[in-house]
Amino acid sequence: MNAALPRLLPGFDQLLHGGDYNPDQWRRYPEITGDDERLLDAARINFVTLGVFAWSSYEPREGELDFGWLDRAMDASARAGRKVVLATPSGAKPVWMSLRYPEIRRVNRDGLREPHQGRHNHCWSSPVYREQVARINTELARRYREHPALALWHVSNEYSGKCYCELCKREFQRWLERKYTHIDALNDAWWSDFWSSAYGSFSEIDPRAANPEALNLDHQRFQTWQLIDFLRWEQGPLREFTPRVPITTNFMGTFGGNDYWRIAEQVDLVADDQYPNFDATSPELARHAAGVAFKNDLYRAMKPDRPWMLMESSPDVQNWRSPMRLKRPGIHRLEMLQAIAHGAEGTGYFQLRKGRGGGEKYHGALIDHVGHERTRVFRAVTDWGRDCERLAPVLGSRSPAQVALLYDWEARWGFELSSGPVSRPDVYDSVCQAHHRPFWARGVAVDVIGSDRDFSRYRVLITPQLYLLQPGIAERITRFVINGGTWVATHYTGYCDAHSRCFLGGFPGEGLRQVLGLWNEEVDALPAGLQRKLKRVDADCGLPPAPTSEAVCEIVHLEGARPLAVYADDFYAGHAALSVHDLGRGSAYYHATRLEDSALDGFYGALIARVGLQRALPAELPAGVTAQRRVSERDEFVFVLNFTPQPQQIPLGTARYRNLLLEQDEGPTLQLEAFGCAVLQRPL
Ligand code: GLA
Ligand code: GLA
Repeated sequence: MNAALPRLLPGFDQLLHGGDYNPDQWRRYPEITGDDERLLDAARINFVTLGVFAWSSYEPREGELDFGWLDRAMDASARAGRKVVLATPSGAKPVWMSLRYPEIRRVNRDGLREPHQGRHNHCWSSPVYREQVARINTELARRYREHPALALWHVSNEYSGKCYCELCKREFQRWLERKYTHIDALNDAWWSDFWSSAYGSFSEIDPRAANPEALNLDHQRFQTWQLIDFLRWEQGPLREFTPRVPITTNFMGTFGGNDYWRIAEQVDLVADDQYPNFDATSPELARHAAGVAFKNDLYRAMKPDRPWMLMESSPDVQNWRSPMRLKRPGIHRLEMLQAIAHGAEGTGYFQLRKGRGGGEKYHGALIDHVGHERTRVFRAVTDWGRDCERLAPVLGSRSPAQVALLYDWEARWGFELSSGPVSRPDVYDSVCQAHHRPFWARGVAVDVIGSDRDFSRYRVLITPQLYLLQPGIAERITRFVINGGTWVATHYTGYCDAHSRCFLGGFPGEGLRQVLGLWNEEVDALPAGLQRKLKRVDADCGLPPAPTSEAVCEIVHLEGARPLAVYADDFYAGHAALSVHDLGRGSAYYHATRLEDSALDGFYGALIARVGLQRALPAELPAGVTAQRRVSERDEFVFVLNFTPQPQQIPLGTARYRNLLLEQDEGPTLQLEAFGCAVLQRPL
């Protein structure tokens, strides 16, 4: 279990620290950027991402290729011992290409072909665009195949979006035909007699039809497939000419448009972009930080056998936020260290130098328009660069977790695309995060996993709002419980199959009704702000005696489960709001309602104690402070992060640790300043 993870970049024994760098925008001004290599050195930058959106600088006119600036930037990086993350430029096509080959531009839902516009708007199917991309990627891969600085491919940028052109429509029809074979099977799966939507052939299907609902769900799946098809196409020349250079693409957290579990299978390592905009003056800071931790636990678990990296973050402000608040002192280190605490082995920025013009000239950067290193942001980045060097001992360490939380993009889509019971898009994520937060607050590690992942080795499995059940998942959950696992399910579990068809015979479907020992007859979806009173009936369940809940109240009938709390309001007073069912050697908890935060926290506090889950530190942590643990073959590392504006004291028990950032010994009490953090090492 503790065997070392491989390095993010083969043979590179450092935490990565770097970011997007655009010498392409400064080709005409070598005198301005002449000092940049020295500045990058000063800030301990050990990688640069080059070439994102640089196509028109390589090829200002069709067929006129010039890689001069990139040659110089690659060579300078090699001389400095810096690694290059080289992007393919497909995220923004040159103007001449858009004009000469209109079919490469995306068609929107209204059937209109978009003008050239900015970026991220090419058609996924266009054979012309694919040819152009293959050509430029081949040029890059061939040219730099032996280059000592080339360390990682960054395919395109933040892939997303749909195209509704005729080619993409036909691709969708073909995808459906492969999936269903016969149109009758599709009609049945889609329940298409509803509103007279039965299809006679696959060629009649238009992805813009809003009905039936299952069409939208399949189109969403198709979009991920299409994106992957494009990603694989882009990879072709890279795999061919540089088989030893790993490939990634930058993901966008829990962006709703892409099923990132599937995309992750196609790349060698996963890289996420995060702009959390931590507001140090907000009482919500810790909650916000826990939300980022949730995503970090997802990216760490996405490829459990390789570290992940934070590809983009801002050294300071983001131009696209209004207002653009400055990052308060102390926050930068906290934000970066948070990623490392959750398994990342590199942090990158957008951007290393501000462009002089264009839409991102006010976006935070290491090198500001002033052009020298005597800025607050430069100092904060440099401090973090030094910290990265001190953190080298954590390289290769793992984050063992006994808790798995299931995040399923398809369940989310099923829920969000359904007309009723709730049509707010943020619900799925906020419920997932609410069930993750109590673990974060106690320093208990959680892997956020996809439905395909084997969860049999975990002790606790949490499946927030598993509305749509993928084939086989119910059976695997059943076995998990019978074999001694603790399963926590919530409201909106098991309503629909993978085609968004409701289960017959009582919710939750597929036998989960028997596992949970209850039947869910009705759901009362509450307006915002309306709370329900509950009454605790089992003093050991961790809830306060009279908790409250909100948003959703399912009316369930217990069929073997025991109530832990019941509703005390409305006509369903007395019905179970929280229950547990013992089955085989395990137990299955059901939250029929959305407990308010402190009650949910109490529930998990009791559960963690009952199951005996391991914590990063033995003591209770102050509110707003988390502790995350990584272990190597020899040592354990405890990352303690204070997301509060107050100094904090953390009891360390009898253990003594080495503080890697301050290079001093710690114990029995760790003192943290406001927004302070520590990385504590001790032998196992
Ligand atoms: C309208 C329509 C019905 C049905 C109901 C649902 O009345 O005529 O077909 O859609 O709304 O409330
Ligand atoms: C995204 C993009 C970058 C840049 C940043 C700005 O993450 O990938 O190119 O536009 O946003 O925050």
